[in-house]
Parts: sequence; C-alpha cells; structure tokens
Amino acid sequence: MTTSFNGMNGVGGASSRTVLITGASKGLGRALALELAKRGHTVIGCSRTQDKLSSLQSELSSPENHLFLNADVKSNSSIEELARAVMEKKGVPDIIVNNAGTINRNNKIWEVPEEEFDTVIDTNVKGVANMLRHFIPLMITRKQGIIVNMSSGWGRSGAALVAPYCASKWAVEGLTRSVAKEVPDGIAVVALNPGVINTDMLASCFGNSAALYQAPEAWALKAATMILNLTAADNGASLTV
Ligand SMILES: NC(=O)c1ccc[n+]([C@@H]2O[C@H](COP(=O)([O-])OP(=O)(O)OC[C@H]3O[C@@H](n4cnc5c(N)ncnc54)[C@H](OP(=O)(O)O)[C@@H]3O)[C@@H](O)[C@H]2O)c1
Repeated sequence: MTTSFNGMNGVGGASSRTVLITGASKGLGRALALELAKRGHTVIGCSRTQDKLSSLQSELSSPENHLFLNADVKSNSSIEELARAVMEKKGVPDIIVNNAGTINRNNKIWEVPEEEFDTVIDTNVKGVANMLRHFIPLMITRKQGIIVNMSSGWGRSGAALVAPYCASKWAVEGLTRSVAKEVPDGIAVVALNPGVINTDMLASCFGNSAALYQAPEAWALKAATMILNLTAADNGASLTV
C-alpha cells in the first residue's frame, strides 16, 4: 500500500484511498461503496451475503481493484480472518467505516425477545469492538488511519420502541470517545450520525413513511466527501452528515 494521507488536509480527498466498509451489501454501505469506487478509491466491503457482494462488485467499473469478503461482525474470529485477508491482499486500509448494523423490530423493551436484544448489541456494539480489536493495531503499525463508527440520531436521543437500538448507538458514541483517548497521534476515531435515509432499516422502524426520506445514493454523495475529508485532527468527534 503506497497511499498517503497527503492531500487529506481539506482538499476534498484528492488522493486515492483504500476504504473498508462493513455492511456493504445494501443500504448506506452499498451506496457509499459505489460512490467511493466512482471517485477512484479502492473499496474493501464485507457482509454476510456473498451474492449481494458479488453483484455489487460486478457493478463497479474496475471490479478487480476492489475486494469483497464474507464476514460477520458479530464474530471475533470472522473479523480476525477478515483482517488477515485484507492485510494479505490490500494492506492496512486508510479509512474504515464501521457501518454494519441492525435494529430491533418496533417493540416496547419488555416485548423484545432476549435473542433479538442480544443480536442488536452483538452486531452494533460488539461488532464495532471486534473491528477495532483487529484493525487498530494494524493502523498503529502504520501510524495513521481514520475510523468512522456509524452512530445515529438515536445514539444521541431516546425513542420509544427502539430502546435496544438506542442503547447500542449510545454505546457506539461512548466507545468512540473513549477509544479516541487511547489511540496515538495520527489515528482518528469518530462517531458519525448519517441522518435519516430510506433503507430497509428505516422501513423497519418508520414503515411506509421511510419512502419520504432521502435515497442512499443522494446520502452517499455528501457522506463520501465528508469521510474523505476527515483528518487525524478530528479524533473523538461526534459528527452528523
Ligand atoms: N438508514 C438510516 O436512516 C440510518 C439512520 C441512523 C443510523 N443508521 C446506521 O447506518 C448503518 C447502515 O444502516 P442501513 O440503513 O444501511 O441498514 P440496512 O439497509 O439494514 O443495511 C445493514 C447492512 O449491515 C450488514 N450487516 C448486518 N449485520 C451484519 C453482521 N453481523 N455482519 C456483517 N454485516 C452485517 C447488512 O449485510 P448482511 O445482512 O448482508 O450481512 C447490510 O449490508 C447502521 O449502522 C445503522 O444503524 C442508519
């Protein structure tokens, strides 16, 4: 990997970066992958659905430049294996977007089945921690790197019927601020509230009114620019697209 951070100082992300996105098979992760590849960046995407990753890769103009791998963020060993494969094929990513996430079906907390609560926490909180565990040491070796942890408006406020999800995203905010105090100079860890976007996740909690919100492609135009412009000076920030 020869990419450098020269050019990251607010110049619109001119240099080519390698960006790892978890949860790239649909929704925000997929739209961001398409937008970054269109701008000439190298995308490493993962999720649990290989056929969707393969079809995304085939949509990109130079599919061979990108890497899509099956991985489950809930599993520490799966992410350990992901880190090994990424290092072998692409080296340390310049930017990691911890985007993979899930939400509970709308329900009051006493109606949420135990396994569903666990899945939300295992994916949204432990999933991010698994990524941090295996990728921060690699970024430390390289003395640089940007990590974007996908938060939510519901990581900064409360809402009925999605308490497990809110709890998980508040945890992402706390995890981010704390880890920001642990990483050495040159590395930034930030929390990003993407706003409200029409994806399967939004349809799960908003029903038909999800269609009133922006499309992932429109969101990705703004989000890509914002993410590419992050620098080490942003460490610990809570940002909103
Ligand atoms: N949409 C919004 O308005 C909104 C608002 C605030 C925050 N967010 C956050 O933005 C992120 C993306 O949300 P979205 O709306 O795009 O959701 P989405 O359409 O439901 O997509 C979620 C993605 O996460 C992946 N994923 C889920 N569990 C995973 C696991 N265990 N391992 C690996 N990948 C996994 C899914 O892929 P597979 O199923 O193929 O594994 C899929 O690619 C989430 O963190 C969400 O909390 C979204």
